[in-house]
Amino acid sequence: MLGGVLQREFLPHIPDAERGSVPDYSSLLPALVRKRDRDRYWLRVTQKNFGRLGAKSVVVELYDGEDRVGDVTGILGVRGSKTVTPHADINQSLRGLGLGVLMYEVLLAHVYRRYGVRKVVGCGSDAALRVHRSLARRHGWTLHEARDEHDYTCYEYALTKGA
Ligand SMILES: CC(C)(COP(=O)(O)OP(=O)(O)OC[C@H]1O[C@@H](n2cnc3c(N)ncnc32)[C@H](O)[C@@H]1OP(=O)(O)O)[C@@H](O)C(=O)NCCC(=O)NCCS
Repeated sequence: MLGGVLQREFLPHIPDAERGSVPDYSSLLPALVRKRDRDRYWLRVTQKNFGRLGAKSVVVELYDGEDRVGDVTGILGVRGSKTVTPHADINQSLRGLGLGVLMYEVLLAHVYRRYGVRKVVGCGSDAALRVHRSLARRHGWTLHEARDEHDYTCYEYALTKGA
């Protein structure tokens, strides 16, 4: 056996979406959301490129039929820095159901596997911080926090595969 010890996959409960088309992660949506109306909600990942600097962002989008009802956007670090800076917004009526944690996990799994991202850095609201704390606790990541001059909390953590 190679090396004797099998390394755990990163976020194994988020299976990689099929390559080639728009990656679809709808099957991961919690039953609570899916049951609201069968097959009405869907989750997908798109990519955008900004201007001449070539900055990239990866967007996890939640749709209710034709309407976009939430997104978690990750700006990828420039010049191979292997970081992602997330920003999220989910419609009020869908908050507190675990979708924030799930959508951040989809973003992190996606950018870890496809872009080699290994660190999360950013500043955000208390609501965002709750998601990062929850992620760090669930996956054993070490979250570093500090308040900035605008009273936002800035955070940084390395993405590791877990024990
Ligand atoms: C940030 C945001 C996307 C989180 O989405 P969400 O679907 O509500 O998050 P989740 O349901 O996955 O909850 C994440 C954690 O926060 C906790 N939480 C959620 N709502 C809470 C509330 N009102 N009070 C206390 N804790 C709360 C959850 O219990 C969970 O922690 P846990 O796993 O330890 O139990 C959402 O609140 C939002 O869109 N906020 C407005 C925009 C914003 O602030 N964006 C971030 C700027 S970068």
